[in-house]
Amino acid sequence: ARTAAVIPAAGRGVRLGPGAPKALRTLNGTPMLIHAVRALAASRAVSLVVVVAPPDGAGEVKSLLDAHALPDRTDFVVVPGGDSRQESVRLGLDALPPEYDIVLVHDAARPLVPVDTVDGVIEAVREGAPAVVPALPLADTVKEVGPAAPGEPEPVVATPVRARLRAVQTPQGFDRATLVRAHETVTEDVTDDASMVEQLGLTVVVVPGHEEAFKVTRPLDLVLAEAVLARRRL
Ligand code: C5P
Repeated sequence: ARTAAVIPAAGRGVRLGPGAPKALRTLNGTPMLIHAVRALAASRAVSLVVVVAPPDGAGEVKSLLDAHALPDRTDFVVVPGGDSRQESVRLGLDALPPEYDIVLVHDAARPLVPVDTVDGVIEAVREGAPAVVPALPLADTVKEVGPAAPGEPEPVVATPVRARLRAVQTPQGFDRATLVRAHETVTEDVTDDASMVEQLGLTVVVVPGHEEAFKVTRPLDLVLAEAVLARRRL
């Protein structure tokens, strides 16, 4: 089985504040996207990484990859992305050569995922799961809220049992044919790829995630990411 990784990196990252597209912001001097590409290419099983660039930024991303040291045994391809994450992932899937039958989808916004997490996801797909997500238990209790009446605070409508909830990370791993079918079948907006496979009626399985696979979303996350890198002495 050959494994490729698709890294959607076409988001604007507005929640991080003004500036460059999120994937191009630097952590300790190196763009977040380069950290993410290295994190996936660190797995010996991954022989192709497809980076989905901002629609008008494919040239810039290609130059960026050329300018940084990356493993020789891995191929790198850059394609332009779309208006939604889903569209960007689909464009990345379209660029995969036929010989890849396992696909990882990894957010550029999770630049510090450890290689053991990547390998754990691949292993579970190799063992036969059509879709695999790395996930962690939650520290916070989660409430579902209803719509607020004008001028009123939001009402809580439900409290799911915390012990049964998981915060889901990436890379998510897929049997390629299953993920392609999911993208052809599901048209409504989703926030992760595995939920599209759930909608096909297939079982998605969970493997252990990692604290360092957190998503860089808000300004405080940049501080945390640089602290993690400093601890690793990169
Ligand atoms: O916005 P969010 O943090 O959920 O984005 C997750 C990932 O999807 C990021 O790596 C972002 O660059 C990517 N994305 C994309 N194309 C879009 C929107 C987001 O590739 N149109």
